[in-house]
Order: sequence, then C-alpha cells, then structure tokens
Amino acid sequence: MAEQLPRYDCTQSYRWNYEHPPEPVMREIPTVPGTWQFCGHDVASPLGISAGPLLNGRWCLYYAHLGFDVLTYKTVRSSQRDCYPRPNLQPVNCGQLDGTEKRVHPCDTMQGSWAVAFGMPSSEPEQWRRDIAWTRQNLPKGKVLSVSVVGTMQPDWGIDELAADYARCAKWAVESGADCIETNFSCPNVNTCDGQLYLDNKQSEIVSRVVKSSIGKVPLILKIGHFVDTDLMSDFISSVGQHADAVAMTNSIATTVGISDTNLMFDQQQRGICGRAILDASIAQVRQFSTLLQERSSDLQIIGVGGVETASDVTRYLNAGASGCQLATAAMISPDCGLKIRTEMGSMDIADQSS
Ligand SMILES: Cc1cc2nc3c(=O)[nH]c(=O)nc-3n(C[C@H](O)[C@H](O)[C@H](O)COP(=O)(O)O)c2cc1C
Repeated sequence: MAEQLPRYDCTQSYRWNYEHPPEPVMREIPTVPGTWQFCGHDVASPLGISAGPLLNGRWCLYYAHLGFDVLTYKTVRSSQRDCYPRPNLQPVNCGQLDGTEKRVHPCDTMQGSWAVAFGMPSSEPEQWRRDIAWTRQNLPKGKVLSVSVVGTMQPDWGIDELAADYARCAKWAVESGADCIETNFSCPNVNTCDGQLYLDNKQSEIVSRVVKSSIGKVPLILKIGHFVDTDLMSDFISSVGQHADAVAMTNSIATTVGISDTNLMFDQQQRGICGRAILDASIAQVRQFSTLLQERSSDLQIIGVGGVETASDVTRYLNAGASGCQLATAAMISPDCGLKIRTEMGSMDIADQSS
C-alpha cells in the first residue's frame, strides 16, 4: 500500500496544525516538460499551492519538497485573529456548482469538496514577518514565495483606510522577502464588506492601486471569487488592469450548507465551497477572462484555482487561458498529488499543456 504522507489533521484545531507542521520529505521530483513563468519568475512547472494550506513557513517548505513551485503563504492581517472553531472544514455532497445554488448538503466523509469556514485567521504581524523572512531564506532555489494579504475592516473605517491596511501588510511582506503579493478580494467566510471586494469595481481599483504603490516592482496578484453576473467582469478588468500583474480565480463558490432550508449550519451564513465542485465554473470563468484580456491586448496573467486534482484538470485550465494552476483542497487531502500530476504531465504531449 502507498505510504500516506502527513497532512493537515482535520480532527485537530487550526492552532494545533499551525504548531505541528510536517517535516519535509525527500522525494524524486518528476520533470514537467515546457517552460513556465509565474509573474516574471521562471519556474519548473505551472503548479503552486494557493492561499490556505500553507499556515506558516514550515508548511511552505513541506509542499515545496512535494513538487509545487509557487508557494502562497496563507493570508495574513495587520493584527492577530483566531480561526473559527471546528467544524470549519465541512465535507459537502454536491455536483458541479454554478453559483446559483441556494444550499448544499453536508456529509460525513470527504468526497472532494468541502465548505471552508476558517475566517482568515492570522498570527501577529511580528510573528508572520519573522516567519516569512525565515521561509524565504529556507525555500529551495527556484521556488517562488507569494504572500496573501487582506485588510481588516474597523467600524469607523472607509475604503481608504481599508486600502491602507492592505498596503501595510503588503509592504511588510515585501520587506520580509515575499517575491509576489496576493491581495484577497474574496472571502465568503467573513461577514464584513472586505469579504467580497472584487464585486465592487471602485473599491477594487482603490485597493489595488494603493497596494501596488506600496510594493513598487514586486508583482501583484488579485485573488477573486466567482462572478455569477459575467457582465461585471469587463468593468472589473478595466478598473484593476493597470495596477495588477495577475488575477487568481476562483476563491470558492459561496452558498449555505444544511440538510434543509430550515436546518442550516454556520448560523445560516454562506460559506465558500472549495474543491472538486467548483472546477467547471472556475475553468469557464478563466476562459471568459482570457477572451476579455485578449480583446484588450492585456498581459494580465491568469492563475487557475479551484478543483484541480489531476494533470488533465491542469491542462483544461491552461487551454482556457491560465498560465499556471494552484491547488488547495486536493493538496491538503493528498499531499503527493503534485508529484502525481507532474508524472502525468511528463507523459503528455507538451503541445497539449502550454497551448
Ligand atoms: C482550508 C482552506 C483555507 C483557505 N484559506 C484561504 C485564505 O486564507 N485566503 C485565500 O485567499 N483563500 C483561501 N482558501 C481558498 C483557496 O486558496 C482556494 O481558492 C480554494 O480552496 C479553491 O481551490 P481548491 O478547489 O483547490 O481547494 C482556503 C481554502 C481552504 C481549503
């Protein structure tokens, strides 16, 4: 039987997992044919880990040794915040989602998709700044460290203060050694207006402009959610295109979770569904974005996120217009999935992959 590699332990708390990162394992890393770039950095494959599974630097190192070339440090804030209590990773039983669903059914065992309810926890800035510096020093050569940041809305703040808070975190992350900054514009698990910033063009423009001006030449990635109204995409691109280097999509698809409309989990609030159930909708969104970018001759890169488990999923994203893919759920469940994808990609026709 194949050896099960250590992974995030869903029976334990977030804090426990933060404090018990696995040690890097030594594995042969299959070569992926083709040439690959991530926001101006040459990388050995189109594979990365999205914001979420990498709770701290030791988790980054673990996945860097498992065939992932872009490591996104889990979203950090300008002040400490606890994770929402368990259950915060609730498996769900559903087919492919398109964003119009009102509710999905919870289930006992993981079937590829789950509702994520972490609420974007963060350690104190002093702690994550030190840890990012340590991570950059210890990551193997050729690996790219992207740091995800979010602003933390305060009761008396408007968008300018929120933008400044995003920018403060971004600047700190760059000072600590981040190669790229990702701003999270979509978190369906927080109940404030910073949760779905990507749906407001004006606010997205302000935040991306202010963050970009605080990080200079360091590439800026905007992490966005799913657009149910696809007419909004064009204006979003017009608003942020000049400030960002890439867009990563999609964060998740938000809906409620419960066995009936009157028996809902999470205080009746929506949660982000991540994993297999968002694959088709995310690829469709990448394709639409790519068409819009081509029409504008824009060189904004697209990073495909959502539901990736196999090399054929990666190929579908690349063919839709993404320049690379990032995984969260599949990598948490099967930490060796990057090695398997690389092996599969090695036996595919290169033209299939980067066309
Ligand atoms: C446990 C977990 C925690 C996550 N935390 C964050 C986060 O802090 N910031 C963020 O931008 N996205 C977060 N995400 C969303 C992922 O980056 C990704 O967009 C989403 O899971 C879809 O990819 P997947 O289908 O491969 O899981 C999280 C996802 C999971 C599963």
